[in-house]
Amino acid sequence: MSTGGLIATDLVIAVLAAAGWLGGGAAAAARRRPLALGLALFALLATLARAITVTALARAGWWFAAEKILIAAPLSLAAVAVAGPRLLRPPVDIRSVAVPLLFAGYAQSAALLVTVLHGYPASAGAGLLAVAGVVAATTISWRVLGTRPSRAAYRAALVLAVGALVAGTGLAAAPGATSGAPHHHEYRDARALGEPTRRFTLTAGTATVNVSGRDIAAWAFNGQVPGPELTATVGDVIEVVLRNRNIDRGVTLHWHGYDVPNGQDGVPGVTQAAVRPGAEFVYRFRAGQAGTYWYHTHAVSDVGVRMGLYGVLVVRPAPATGVDVTVAVHTLAGLPLPVPRTEPVEAAAPVRLRLVNTDDTTHRYALAGTPFRVAAIDGFDLREPAPLVDTAVLIPAGGRYDLVFSAPATPVALFVDGRAVYATGTAPAATAGWPVLDPLTYGARSPVPWPRFDRRFTLTLDRGLDLHGLLPRYAHTVNGKADPDIPPQVVRLGDVVKFTIVNRSLVVHPWHLHGHHVLVLSRNGSPATGSPLWLDSFDVRPGDVWEVGFRADNPGMWANHCHNLPHADAGMTLHLMYAEGEARIGPPLHVR
Ligand code: C2O
Ligand code: CU
Repeated sequence: MSTGGLIATDLVIAVLAAAGWLGGGAAAAARRRPLALGLALFALLATLARAITVTALARAGWWFAAEKILIAAPLSLAAVAVAGPRLLRPPVDIRSVAVPLLFAGYAQSAALLVTVLHGYPASAGAGLLAVAGVVAATTISWRVLGTRPSRAAYRAALVLAVGALVAGTGLAAAPGATSGAPHHHEYRDARALGEPTRRFTLTAGTATVNVSGRDIAAWAFNGQVPGPELTATVGDVIEVVLRNRNIDRGVTLHWHGYDVPNGQDGVPGVTQAAVRPGAEFVYRFRAGQAGTYWYHTHAVSDVGVRMGLYGVLVVRPAPATGVDVTVAVHTLAGLPLPVPRTEPVEAAAPVRLRLVNTDDTTHRYALAGTPFRVAAIDGFDLREPAPLVDTAVLIPAGGRYDLVFSAPATPVALFVDGRAVYATGTAPAATAGWPVLDPLTYGARSPVPWPRFDRRFTLTLDRGLDLHGLLPRYAHTVNGKADPDIPPQVVRLGDVVKFTIVNRSLVVHPWHLHGHHVLVLSRNGSPATGSPLWLDSFDVRPGDVWEVGFRADNPGMWANHCHNLPHADAGMTLHLMYAEGEARIGPPLHVR
């Protein structure tokens, strides 16, 4: 079973165990003997079964099991120790086992809450709060059910509950060692760029756009969704004037995947202020990297991008030759973009399809009717990509794949999630059963360019209760905290950095670090064996452990977040921060 499957299975068993104990306790209190014994026995088995799932999770990685071993296991043992013997020799009056069974139920429920609301890392505070809850609930049950404990036992329980509550609350509320990222940092872009050779103006505003005959209220750049495709040739100096006509919540431009200097990165509150209605901001950067990229607003980005404030940025090594088509997939008001188009292509013409996923979730792309190669991912060329036939690719939120082929005489069609979006003629195809390409094993390998890492960080992705804002929320968390309380990863210029990204949650998190491409080292313990993969967007699925590396070669304060933008908004955003002072002089910028 995959680790993601184990996480889900363990959760289901834990819910069943808690429900079984509680149900058994209630049935015992109601003197429903067979029902009480049946439920309790079932709960006992479920509790014992968790030993298997938790052990398997621990083997997959301590991050997946920490709180289950440190908090849930002792509570489960207590449950079994208290309730188990009474089940083996059930007394005549079944009501007398009600409280022990309820105790087991509270213990299992508390352990479950620790996993669901708190997660990793396990903390003494969470453990003590769980104990306080269990003792308090058990004591109340004791009183209510009339099987009064002795005064001494009652006092002891009370003292224990209050003590654990106080200690747990104190520990949980204590400020962490590091505070969140200082926002409003300013880094000046000191590079002299010279005169722009490519100038664009993008004006953001509300607009009505027509999609397949339906009028949609959107937010658009220059009145269109997607915004205009910006193109340049390597060596150009790009200047983009961003104007905000009437987007009240402000706009910016983030060059997704383009490793621009920090001041041009377009993150409001971090690299600039959001551009208010009537105001403008001028972006200027050198087109140093060829490839397929995109741009989007980063102000209330979960709303802004969905509403249409995005477009494609293509930088070519030389002026375009052959057929060069961009397919930027987006969901606008529930309607899929782009609208399908068919255009004949001359046989033997070289074709490049630039596939972009601007949505919050993964899309499946299938090119039918021709062998093809994946020439580039996230703007970086792959090494010796082999021809593929009848193979689908999964592109994460924010990701890009460039597919190349020489046009056959017969029609070719590209399907996105089964829907034809681009074709050179009528080419029906059943692509649903195709295998999916694993980019980690595709293309020719070359050794990792660094002998060692100067810094290592682990990001554990999960969900958890966040009490630090105005209102409590069930946040998407990193290492148990939510934005803005997640400590930044601090590096020095020149450092070689390793990130281990672990997904403990039940949903996919497409990870995106600004300002850098990361080299994939391994996924779930298997080293990447294909072409070097320099990514800016990659899907960390439930149970996944990704190891990626990069050289800290672009100073500033960089957003580092989940690109399922509602997740980023709900807490899953942190920052990579450069400390003053260089580590040492390293080799040149990107090793391609
Ligand atoms: Cu495309 Cu910070 O995102
Ligand atoms: Cu996410």
